[in-house]
Amino acid sequence: MSVDTKNKERVFIGPVSEFEKEGGVSAKVGEKQIAIFYFESRNEWYACDNACPHTGDMVLSRGYLGDTNGDPKVVCPLHKRNYSLTSGECLSGENYKVNLYPVIVENGSVYLEVDPSITGNKG
Ligand code: FES
Repeated sequence: MSVDTKNKERVFIGPVSEFEKEGGVSAKVGEKQIAIFYFESRNEWYACDNACPHTGDMVLSRGYLGDTNGDPKVVCPLHKRNYSLTSGECLSGENYKVNLYPVIVENGSVYLEVDPSITGNKG
């Protein structure tokens, strides 16, 4: 994972039971929309910006999940650009990138770790 976890703020998102298996949901954290993905088959969680960098539309939480050579990715539902969920890079040959956020699952609850600038808290 290439996600920086230093100086982050933990934000409760919801109980695991409210997340779609093998799919995504969007959550608003501060002014930012974040897409959270639950790969139940891999028992893995990932989160990235909900905005697709191609157009800025808030659609990635409705994207398709998959992998490229084992690397998990989300496929934008609009124009099918692929984004790695471990690097954030566009796998479709373009210079787009999405921000990634660490997902913590503890005692049946899902949390994101985000920069305090996102929540508006000074820390
Ligand atoms: S809006 Fe995502 S690929 Fe075009």
